[in-house]
Amino acid sequence: MWRKFRNWFTWISRPLPEQVRNFRQMITVRGRSFELRPASRDDIAEMVLVERWAYEGEEPWAEGVFYDLLSQPHNSLFVLIREPETNSLAGYIIASFRPGIKDVHISNITIAPDWQKRGLGTFLLTYIMTVAQQINFNRVSLEVRVSNVGAVALYERLGFQIVRTRAKYYDDTGEDAYDMAQMLGDGTKDDDGQLSFKDNR
Ligand SMILES: CC(C)(COP(=O)(O)OP(=O)(O)OC[C@H]1O[C@@H](n2cnc3c(N)ncnc32)[C@H](O)[C@@H]1OP(=O)(O)O)[C@@H](O)C(=O)NCCC(=O)NCCS
Repeated sequence: MWRKFRNWFTWISRPLPEQVRNFRQMITVRGRSFELRPASRDDIAEMVLVERWAYEGEEPWAEGVFYDLLSQPHNSLFVLIREPETNSLAGYIIASFRPGIKDVHISNITIAPDWQKRGLGTFLLTYIMTVAQQINFNRVSLEVRVSNVGAVALYERLGFQIVRTRAKYYDDTGEDAYDMAQMLGDGTKDDDGQLSFKDNR
């Protein structure tokens, strides 16, 4: 009970630092310029459209989920990539910061189909991993459909490992999910080489 309370208190009492929440910059990915910036409520309708487009045939996030997470700025970070000439949304990543366990959970990464395989997914994942390290979080985690071989390959290339398989995790198809994670910086591994979670509370 005490531990639960302490986790909760740590969570709400340490908002994300200002420089993490209020960024806005031009970036270059594979020679092309993009605008990187945090999301506002005005972006949600377009995010929902990109989400439906990218997850065609699967269950995309509903609009309400975006609103709920965006109303938790103390622990959620939305990072958008916009193409500056047309101002169209090329992709986004949504990360939840869990200070009690120093874990950043990537709850959504989506690149619009027209912009896939041009390095933007790699950029956004690397960006979140860098932010996590800068504020001394030591683990990044996510879930992915076992059939999403492209995404799994990308995550493995960036250093993520499969931690476990969750049976029938997705309601829409009953498909299994991989829990994937990687330790940042001072990460540890078990004797059998598996990722272990270092609890720094
Ligand atoms: C998965 C996703 C985020 C990757 O973003 P991206 O910008 O296309 O990825 P990058 O260009 O940075 O990296 C491409 C790498 O990812 C992997 N990859 C991504 N999509 C792939 C596909 N359809 N088939 C095979 N490999 C794929 C490959 O390893 C590829 O490496 P390569 O360019 O050397 O071939 C993007 O394809 C996407 O939004 N997909 C739909 C939504 C989704 O599945 N999100 C992840 C849910 S966990």
